[in-house]
Amino acid sequence: MLRKLTLSAAVALGLAASGAQAAGDAHVEDFAFSFEGPFGSFDQMQLQRGLQIYTEVCSACHGLKHVRIGTLADEGGPALPEDQVRAYAERIEVFDAALDDYRAATPADKFPASGLAEAPDLSLMAKARAGFHGPYGTGLSQLFNGMGGAEYIASVLTGYADAPDCAPADFDGHYNTAFAAGGFPDSCKDEPGHHMVPGSWIGMGQPLYGDDVEYADGHDTDLHHEAQDVAAFLMWTAEPKMMARKTAGLTGVIMLTILSVLLYLTNKRLWAPHKAATKRED
Ligand code: HEC
Repeated sequence: MLRKLTLSAAVALGLAASGAQAAGDAHVEDFAFSFEGPFGSFDQMQLQRGLQIYTEVCSACHGLKHVRIGTLADEGGPALPEDQVRAYAERIEVFDAALDDYRAATPADKFPASGLAEAPDLSLMAKARAGFHGPYGTGLSQLFNGMGGAEYIASVLTGYADAPDCAPADFDGHYNTAFAAGGFPDSCKDEPGHHMVPGSWIGMGQPLYGDDVEYADGHDTDLHHEAQDVAAFLMWTAEPKMMARKTAGLTGVIMLTILSVLLYLTNKRLWAPHKAATKRED
């Protein structure tokens, strides 16, 4: 009822109704990330923890085929020491077409592709999905919070719940409140066909429960923090140059502001004699 009211209010105000609708179908939580806002940047330790989660848990099924292993040493990214990156690469097997055989990877190689065909590659996932919709819509706006790709991933990882009573016990998949694109039983739809529960049934079993890894930096390993760390890492793989983009954008804004002031002053000065002349004629 409450949702219906908010929805019709949004429509009445002429706001992005489709955005509000989409968000109503799934719960995306607004995790606070260090890289949000115009001055935000990646948290190096968080990226290293996220890499650990990816390596120890997600890489069993998911690949990162667009990411070069050597970029783990990049400033502004996980910034691992070069020798650690080499050691990390050596533990990964890649197929070498020239050798027609597998060999240990080097930093010049990319991460392997997904080992499980149904598991999508995660390199660009944080940019392929939007957690937030529309400029105002739901309070989690793209205008102020970004696209919300990292929030979306963290929300899927924390969004597993007991299947609602309306669903048949043997319904295919795992009930997840943040995942909207999966299967949905007819018995959980009302007369006009609206979903009565948020989310849908995802093909991925719950991969994280909390305390799945042991962090070297002693950081909390509850589910919420683990999910956030790996989501931050996947934001970095999807947009490793985010910091450079923000700096360039900010420099652009400052330059344009200065230019506008100069143009205003020039314009005023150029027109001053003519305005004075018109006044005299009056
Ligand atoms: C046992 C294999 C397996 C593991 C381990 C696993 N996943 Fe998945 N994952 C899948 C499969 C299969 C899908 C496709 C599910 C679907 O589309 O219903 C998937 C889908 C996803 C999606 C896409 C959701 C979408 O919107 O399409 C994300 C994001 C994801 N996984 C992240 C992770 C992360 C992060 C980890 C590690 C913490 C992880 N997965 C561990 C098998 C796995």
